[in-house]
Amino acid sequence: PYPNLAPTPPMGWNNWSYYTCHVDEKVVLDNARALVRSGLAQRGYRTVTVDDCWMAKQRGPKGELLPDPVKFPHGMAYLGQQLHAMGLKFGIYEDVGTLTCEKYPGSLGHFTEDAKLFASWQVDYVKADGCNVPTTPGHSKEETYRDLYGQMSRALRAGGRPITFSVSAPAYFQFDGDGVWHRVIGWSSQLGNLWRGGRDVALQQSTPAAKWASIVYNFHYNANLADLQRPGRWNDPDFLLAGDSGLGRDEMQSQMSLWAMMAAPLISSTDLGKLSPEALAVLGNAHVIAVDQDPLGVQGRIVAQDDHSAVLAKPLQNGDRAVALFNSGDTPRTLSVTAGAAGLPEASSYRLHDLVTGHRRHSDGDIVARDVPAHGTVLYRVTPAD
Ligand code: GLA
Repeated sequence: PYPNLAPTPPMGWNNWSYYTCHVDEKVVLDNARALVRSGLAQRGYRTVTVDDCWMAKQRGPKGELLPDPVKFPHGMAYLGQQLHAMGLKFGIYEDVGTLTCEKYPGSLGHFTEDAKLFASWQVDYVKADGCNVPTTPGHSKEETYRDLYGQMSRALRAGGRPITFSVSAPAYFQFDGDGVWHRVIGWSSQLGNLWRGGRDVALQQSTPAAKWASIVYNFHYNANLADLQRPGRWNDPDFLLAGDSGLGRDEMQSQMSLWAMMAAPLISSTDLGKLSPEALAVLGNAHVIAVDQDPLGVQGRIVAQDDHSAVLAKPLQNGDRAVALFNSGDTPRTLSVTAGAAGLPEASSYRLHDLVTGHRRHSDGDIVARDVPAHGTVLYRVTPAD
């Protein structure tokens, strides 16, 4: 398998869902500085990834990738140096097909030279998309993707620098049936450290309702993939939208808490220069981040659900369990689960620490969250008291 370069889920920032193609050196460095200034970098958000549209439309005379000279006037090695000088890591986007999703040069046919170039720019993280993959005569779609992602994975390994590898292949098989995407995730987890599944979360200009719907969709999709996750090999349900306009506080908190329960990569995509105090509190909550980054590295599972709620439980390294009670409905509800159903050992009582309010209390065998607001999630760390 690909080297284990992400023992805990990757954390950072990516421009895509907020800025889409309107990305340049200033956008990236302004957000990088905001990561540091806000304290989020200190909390673990360190990988700054430049998504699609950073390139010139054509390769250079030697077949080399070139940055867009207007957007990145000082080049990508400079960008990497600036990020590293801030204590951050440098992520970059490419595609295993002939063109990226936005029709910039893809890596197909250039895997070795592109990987060497990225290493020479001191890149630490590559997100490899799967748009514009041509059909190959005599080969299935799956064989073609597997071959191309395999080529990129080997090229990165041979490139002489440890580069965390994010594979987008599963996102291109999500409508091909369970059997297929389970297989695709199987080989993706051998070729890289994390992989995209589900749909893209809604972009900045979408309606608040569309943003929320995309979060709920990817939550359910990703929760079903818990069997395919291993420590160091992460399902990626896409960006955190906290900070983005239109999402309510409870909605931002729900996404953060649910992503943490699923040991998902925590990759913010917003304008960090304009982060509200509420959004900063959501993204920066060290107790919630600790659930995500717990060294046991296990994705939480749904242990109870109905049409408008889901309860998840996640084992933690010290023997505690994180328990999340998510009200996806439009009216407040009281939600509960027994300690046994949440996988806790039998005990005379349990200590419950609400990781968002900070409130602590004792409970007998029932883990109850009262009046969970519409679209809200209560997240407890539960410790058996004896
Ligand atoms: C795909 C990916 C997005 C983003 C865009 C860029 O849609 O899923 O995350 O990288 O391509 O074009």
